[in-house]
Amino acid sequence: MQLAETIERMRELRREARGDVVLVPTMGALHAGHLSLVRRAREIGQTVVVSVFVNPTQFAPHEDLERYPRPIERDLELCEAAGVDIVFCPSVEQMYPADEAEVLVDVPSVGGDLEGASRPRFFGGVCRVVAKLFGVVVPDVACFGEKDYQQLRVIEAMTVGLCLPIRIEACGLVRDEDGLALSSRNVYLSEEERGRALSLSGALGEASRLIEGGQRDATAVEAAMRGVMEGRGVEVDYAVVREPRKLSVLQVIDIQRGPVVCLVAGRVGAVRLIDNRVVGGGM
Ligand code: PAF
Repeated sequence: MQLAETIERMRELRREARGDVVLVPTMGALHAGHLSLVRRAREIGQTVVVSVFVNPTQFAPHEDLERYPRPIERDLELCEAAGVDIVFCPSVEQMYPADEAEVLVDVPSVGGDLEGASRPRFFGGVCRVVAKLFGVVVPDVACFGEKDYQQLRVIEAMTVGLCLPIRIEACGLVRDEDGLALSSRNVYLSEEERGRALSLSGALGEASRLIEGGQRDATAVEAAMRGVMEGRGVEVDYAVVREPRKLSVLQVIDIQRGPVVCLVAGRVGAVRLIDNRVVGGGM
């Protein structure tokens, strides 16, 4: 496994790379969810690149940039064991040189609400860093997890909108045995908070049960999801049912015509969590 700490070194390794290059962008603190992306990358390409970069531009000043976990030695060991070919782990100065013009990427409209509303800087920062990573690594394919469902849709729209010749591979969400969606932020949860956090997947289970049982009123399903989370003391940010591609608002749910996606976000103590579930076939 090769380690590239500079853009120059990454470009050198890219020039020498064999076959299709598949990028798995991460902010480190790797868990089984990331490793499932790496496994998918290994299946589809000859050269697997994992980027590890805690991107400051996607954090608002009050968010957890400083305390975001950075276990780089362990991340490197996990990458090595997973058969990664190249780890690109640049410094902030490499990615955002102080004398560089600040080039912003307009966030596609699918990023306008939900996470975009709750975290106004988030998708701007994500688009900016992902566009840079694409420019440095020049992958043929890039893997993103469906755990960050709206982020996946934003990146797909950005890639198409900027005519970037990169295929975005959507990879399924991974859950712990108890149902909690894997996230690097789960390490912040106390045992008691973890119990309450399970109400996010519980709310999605309830939504799925209602929809598959014939409930067509999106507002009723949203209220039920909110009820499950609030019942466990979660401060709900949103609990919505949307059309799964453009995330447009739905009045009526009709899974005979196509699937829907249920998306939830909430705060458990100081930890903000998101989760989602696609209901209905065909995706
Ligand atoms: O999903 C993440 O870990 C980050 O938002 C990403 C895509 C690596 C950009 O920093």
